[in-house]
Amino acid sequence: MAFSDDFLQELAERNPIEEVVGEYVPLTKRSGQNLFGLCPFHNEKTPSFSVSPSKQIYHCFGCGKGGNVINFIMEIERLSFPEAVEFLARRAGMAIPEQAEDPNRARRARLYELNREAARFFYQQLEAEAGRPAVEYMQRRQITKRTATNFGLGYAPDSWDALCSAMKAMGFTERELLAASLAKQGRRGGIYDAFRNRLMFPVIDVRGNVVAFSGRIVGEGEPKYLNSADTPVFSKSHNLFGLNLAKKSKAGYIILVEGNVDVVSLHQAGFDSAVASLGTSLTNEQARLISNYAKRVVLCYDADAAGQKAAQRAIPILDRLGLEIRVVTVPGAKDPDEFIKSSGAEAFRALIEDSENGEEYRLARAAANYDLSTDAGKVGYLREAAEIISTLPDAVTREVYSLRAAEQCSVAPAAVRDAVVQSRRRRERSAKKQRERADTRPERQMQPQALGIRYENPASAAAEEGVISLLAAMPELFRAGDRPAAEKFSSPELRHIYECMLAQLDAGRAPGSAALSAELSPAESGLYAQIMQRPVFAANARQALADYISRLGRTSGEATGEAILAAASRKRQQLQ
Ligand code: GTP
Ligand code: MN
Repeated sequence: MAFSDDFLQELAERNPIEEVVGEYVPLTKRSGQNLFGLCPFHNEKTPSFSVSPSKQIYHCFGCGKGGNVINFIMEIERLSFPEAVEFLARRAGMAIPEQAEDPNRARRARLYELNREAARFFYQQLEAEAGRPAVEYMQRRQITKRTATNFGLGYAPDSWDALCSAMKAMGFTERELLAASLAKQGRRGGIYDAFRNRLMFPVIDVRGNVVAFSGRIVGEGEPKYLNSADTPVFSKSHNLFGLNLAKKSKAGYIILVEGNVDVVSLHQAGFDSAVASLGTSLTNEQARLISNYAKRVVLCYDADAAGQKAAQRAIPILDRLGLEIRVVTVPGAKDPDEFIKSSGAEAFRALIEDSENGEEYRLARAAANYDLSTDAGKVGYLREAAEIISTLPDAVTREVYSLRAAEQCSVAPAAVRDAVVQSRRRRERSAKKQRERADTRPERQMQPQALGIRYENPASAAAEEGVISLLAAMPELFRAGDRPAAEKFSSPELRHIYECMLAQLDAGRAPGSAALSAELSPAESGLYAQIMQRPVFAANARQALADYISRLGRTSGEATGEAILAAASRKRQQLQ
């Protein structure tokens, strides 16, 4: 390990987890010691993400992610361990000790370089004879030369090895081409170009690195788009197409659209703050990225049902980050690109200026589903409206929309207000129940599925988890020679956690200190944090340890199996 335990311990102390996490996730205090918030790693409506200031760990009951402050930064900033350490050191104003160069960083630097060269190669094809189909296609879609240069658009020729050959000639290896998701492994060994006959949109991160590509087929064909797979320098859910340009916009808002072509087309028409999520529905990370650059978002998804549905899903994700949301639906066109071409930039600007805010949009969508001239329609709509209004955090806003909905259906405002209150209570109750369920989940039922870990022997694993939680809480029980042997563990993950903790203990430190995050995989860290959530009762710890030890390696069926065998042998004896 490159960093000393002492350094890591100090780093953790000077970056209290509740403070660091609090910079990303609003946390609220509940009964008990833990702080709770909405998990930044998966979509949820009720908080199941907990932070324990006393144990200095975080844990999500929903998705299973967890660990210490270093794991958190690795996960949320998508950094390697040494990078996360550096990040936190900078945050706390600590000097970083001399250390070995991170091999991952060197590897990533190569991939950035390869991507940049690939983008240059694709761009150059537009000048070559081979690039004619792409040039003609761009003309047809009215994408100017200037726009193409601004975005670094290019063309992947209709060839199996044009890119691979060119990159190999520059000294890049097949492994690097595969790792960058630019090549695919051929069946008879060798590699071939992943993108062929495609208009290439480089995905450029906010630091200006080319991190991936999105390739649209030139003309008709399937699949319409090919996007890079996730690579060591690219995660789809953490990037937005066009953000490298949009972040410099003075518009004061980000326009979020679905298609790459929409982004390009909007920029060309003067809307230089358009971005698109890369073929995924909007993620928390993408929303957070947006919130770094603007406080307002204009959602302008495709006009079809799928686009409208996607917009509705995106609203709460953006809302949670406190972004002001506006929604534009283009009339008489399938997407913003088509609208700009048919109606012009001024018409689009007018749409933005008249756009509805997120609540209005959701309420209008709900109203459209009912016939408000009938009583049944009113009831259905008001129920749905109350549900939507109840999610608004601000009481005044809730009142305004309650009044509006009441007026719309000509009912007394008090009725809507009541329904909103009911709906808020219901939501709180179900959140509470969910938390309680998470808190009291019996150990033996637990499979850490969310982490991609499956216990082969759940009964033994429950005991193994028990050993680990005792080791963290009462290391003194483990100093003597009677500590259970790691070989008895059935789960390789739990065994690894246990061994790392013992190593720390033997080195004279608290098992589970900050250095653990250097040794454990993300899934193991999550599992560790999950185990640390459980209460440990000090009074009968010694007895508990003995129980756990006796259960190590046993399956739950074993006792009955033994009983059956014993009974059978008794029977045999009787017969003889
Ligand atoms: P056109 O206007 O038809 O040229 O396309 P567009 O750029 O507007 O994209 P569209 O609205 O059709 O799709 C939105 C986004 O979804 C695209 O930018 C892609 O990222 C993604 N996407 C679309 N089709 C596919 C596909 O076939 N495969 C994959 N993986 N992603 C796709
Ligand atoms: Mn489109």
